[in-house]
Amino acid sequence: MPLVHRVLPPQPIESLEEYVKARGGRGIDAAGHEDVAALIAVVEASGLRGRGGAGFPTGRKWRTVRENASDVLATTVVVNGAEGEPGTFKDRTIMRLDPYAVVEGALIAARAVGARSIVFGLKRSFVPEISRMRAAIAEMQREGWAEGIDLSVFEGPDEYLYGEETALLETLDGRYPFPRIAPPFRRGVTELVEHANDVGTGSGLSAHVEMAVPGGETGAPPALVDNVETMANVPRIVSRGADWFRTEGTAESPGTIVCTVTGSTRRAGVGEVLMGTPLREVIDLIGGGPRRGHRVKAVMPGVSSAVIPEHLLDTPVSYEALAAIGSGLGAGSLIVFDDSDDLAAIAAGVSRFLAIESCGQCTPCKRDGLALADLLGRVSRSEAPAHKLIQIRDLVNTVSDGARCYLGLQHEAVVGSILTGFGDEFQAHVDGSAPSVEPALITELVDLEGDEAVFNERHRSKQPDWTYNAEDSGKWPAERLDEHRAPQRLED
Ligand SMILES: Cc1cc2nc3c(=O)[nH]c(=O)nc-3n(C[C@H](O)[C@H](O)[C@H](O)COP(=O)(O)O)c2cc1C
Ligand code: SF4
Repeated sequence: MPLVHRVLPPQPIESLEEYVKARGGRGIDAAGHEDVAALIAVVEASGLRGRGGAGFPTGRKWRTVRENASDVLATTVVVNGAEGEPGTFKDRTIMRLDPYAVVEGALIAARAVGARSIVFGLKRSFVPEISRMRAAIAEMQREGWAEGIDLSVFEGPDEYLYGEETALLETLDGRYPFPRIAPPFRRGVTELVEHANDVGTGSGLSAHVEMAVPGGETGAPPALVDNVETMANVPRIVSRGADWFRTEGTAESPGTIVCTVTGSTRRAGVGEVLMGTPLREVIDLIGGGPRRGHRVKAVMPGVSSAVIPEHLLDTPVSYEALAAIGSGLGAGSLIVFDDSDDLAAIAAGVSRFLAIESCGQCTPCKRDGLALADLLGRVSRSEAPAHKLIQIRDLVNTVSDGARCYLGLQHEAVVGSILTGFGDEFQAHVDGSAPSVEPALITELVDLEGDEAVFNERHRSKQPDWTYNAEDSGKWPAERLDEHRAPQRLED
């Protein structure tokens, strides 16, 4: 199966005129003729699932948000363009190539859920994407596409958690990117915090906003949060219909997926494939296959789900098939390892990334996460005795205890899967037969330059307290950043 071009055009779309010539705008036209219930029904029937990582059914989310509209405050549509999953560059590629489809999808979503404003949540470091999105929005506003809807681009912080949807909502309201307790679709407006203070349950920190229930009782408006790629799929579904969308992909994962392949392949890249394409084929199509003289040993879907060993590479890329082998599709990030990669060093790198990025609202996630990263680092450097492997296993079992968001579970899943599937590589370090290696740099991509992935090297000096100081303060972010409003930059 070749690469396809449904949400990822082969060349950048440079103007609204060009977008319209390429069938752009038919979705919003069709949406204008549908009543809202029918519009949501089309998206539900299409089987579109959120491309931000969890694969949640998009139409069902839209229906829930619509049903939970507040009588007092209007709903907001938030487009999640935070893209911080290590090994992922697909949302930035979509925004660079075709920002118009993302905006059109969001305008359709706004109609469906009754929103009067749309916020595109990007990171302030995403300079080309911010400028592409702003230019597309301005053009579409000038041409009358967004009558009555307020559109803005929010420039958020670089923290990984900023992409977690409740943390994103917190950040939009001027607080730090600390995940809330569910439900995810309430926007954490100041009213909620004041309510928290009124009823004596909190100090105003997101950590204490625990009463954000659906329905109108707090007067807080709901927010619909959908990923960039999810939104980019919407216009064609609405213009061509659910049945058309279901002609591609699998029954449970219809359509296409935009994957990013990095790691030990001939090249790094982003490409769109039909759902159901075997993993091995995706690696060949986008990454050019294994490097000459090497064989693929394993694939890691970002830092979210279990590492997939080579013998399972014929598994189709779909939510259901990857879940069935105990892993997950996540955001389509495929980090490939070959026979020259040391998986003990990879585990140490993943652990370091997740432990640093943990906000510390849940003690096991930060405390056990940091202890795990430290021990795995010592194993990778061949400095740890064999009995430390037992301690590592114990920490893997506790790191997600009471976790408020998915990050703690990610730590357990990824490191646990490497320990189980590649235990001999850890053993080789503790018995001295493997050379000392530094933990791998596992972090966000900052760009794709030609066939090369550019990693966020600065993460090497990020401290667990989220500063870049020479010394860590020893305070976890949730403890250190105990002010009501976030500054422009968290390290300031
Ligand atoms: C730690 C963490 C980081 C996340 N980062 C992102 C991100 O960068 N972009 C994104 O779209 N979703 C991210 N998500 C998933 C969002 O919480 C949420 O599921 C998504 O925005 C929903 O949109 P969708 O239904 O269209 O997938 C992250 C989740 C977690 C737990
Ligand atoms: S699980 Fe970890 S990252 Fe998520 S809220 Fe708790 S401490 Fe923060």
